Amino acid sequence: MTQTSHPSDKALVPFVSVDHMMQLIHRIGLEQMLRELAGYIEDDFRRWELFDKTPRVASHSAEGVIELMPTSDGEVYGFKYVNGHPKNMKEGLQTVTAFGLLANVDNGYPVLLSEMTILTALRTAATSAMVAKHLAPKGARTMAMIGNGAQSEFQSLAMKAICGIDTVRLWDIDSKATAKCAANLAGHGLRVVPCTSAEQAIEGAQILTTCTADKQCATILSDNMVGPGVHINAIGGDCPGKTELAPGILSRAGVFVEYPPQTRIEGEIQQMPEDFPVTEIWEVITGRKPGRRNAEQITLFDSVGFATEDFSALRYVRDKVKGTGLSHMLDLLADPDDPRDLFGMVQRAAPAEM
Ligand SMILES: NC(=O)c1ccc[n+]([C@@H]2O[C@H](COP(=O)([O-])OP(=O)(O)OC[C@H]3O[C@@H](n4cnc5c(N)ncnc54)[C@H](O)[C@@H]3O)[C@@H](O)[C@H]2O)c1
Repeated sequence: MTQTSHPSDKALVPFVSVDHMMQLIHRIGLEQMLRELAGYIEDDFRRWELFDKTPRVASHSAEGVIELMPTSDGEVYGFKYVNGHPKNMKEGLQTVTAFGLLANVDNGYPVLLSEMTILTALRTAATSAMVAKHLAPKGARTMAMIGNGAQSEFQSLAMKAICGIDTVRLWDIDSKATAKCAANLAGHGLRVVPCTSAEQAIEGAQILTTCTADKQCATILSDNMVGPGVHINAIGGDCPGKTELAPGILSRAGVFVEYPPQTRIEGEIQQMPEDFPVTEIWEVITGRKPGRRNAEQITLFDSVGFATEDFSALRYVRDKVKGTGLSHMLDLLADPDDPRDLFGMVQRAAPAEM
């Protein structure tokens, strides 16, 4: 019998395209989606001990990095492919692009393939704001947003939706980036203040977010810029040789991380000794360790992005697209009538008409 070109159900895997992801955001509402995503991410941090954990597998080059981020909760396996190339932006490309997959652990079959460039911006912002909810000073209303690139509006709106900030002070070495960010945030219920230096941006801010991209150890915040009582959400230092904060800030702060074996390689604390003390954020979320100790403490989330956050984001998308039509069914998995007759399936396939 000639194998038809129509794949069976077992061959098909739902694929969420960039277009579908954007439609999903509009359908749910961006701030609602950030809140819901933060809930999924926080729930998975509560289940931290269940997950397979490994520092991400990185392939470095002179211009950037390509990484795989796998994890599993024992029932579902997930991974994300992600790159980081700071020079891309000048060439009209994204600094960060990504896609990811979920699979059933019991038979290894993929159950979702999704774009994750947009989803990474959402999950990074949702994670930042969820962590800030635990660590930022009470009543924080103003955030300095340093680095006004692709992540910046998502970061700002997540801090509004989840932590209740009402003002964002913008700074970027490229004034076009600040103008873009300010224009995009107009009408979203935030007071937006474009600034002319990092020093000006942090004036009166209780949350300082650094989200710049440069393949070097930069000093976006120097030690003397950071006063007591603030929360620093450090996003851009996420690769060996790529940091944003003066080491003096780390010595004065309570430092909170996702997964120490990865953060010691990639985060701000790569500048510190191997045994530099850190608190794992899951321990704060589950109440095992205190978060902010007092109103004067500087808290620092040394964010690098961990695989469980992507797993949570993919889980969320899988739940949300069900029954919406917001996915294509991809003919991804070969499904011969006889599982052992893969060759026969190929042989019987009708040649495509030329
Ligand atoms: N921690 C995480 O989970 C996570 C997730 C996603 C991205 N990131 C990192 O966040 C950073 C930003 O990502 P993006 O997609 O927004 O990049 P992007 O290239 O779109 O934007 C970066 C911005 O930083 C600005 N910038 C560079 N040097 C600066 C400086 N010294 N002072 C002020 N602004 C400066 C650039 O002009 C640009 O507008 C990247 O380093 C990326 O690797 C981290």
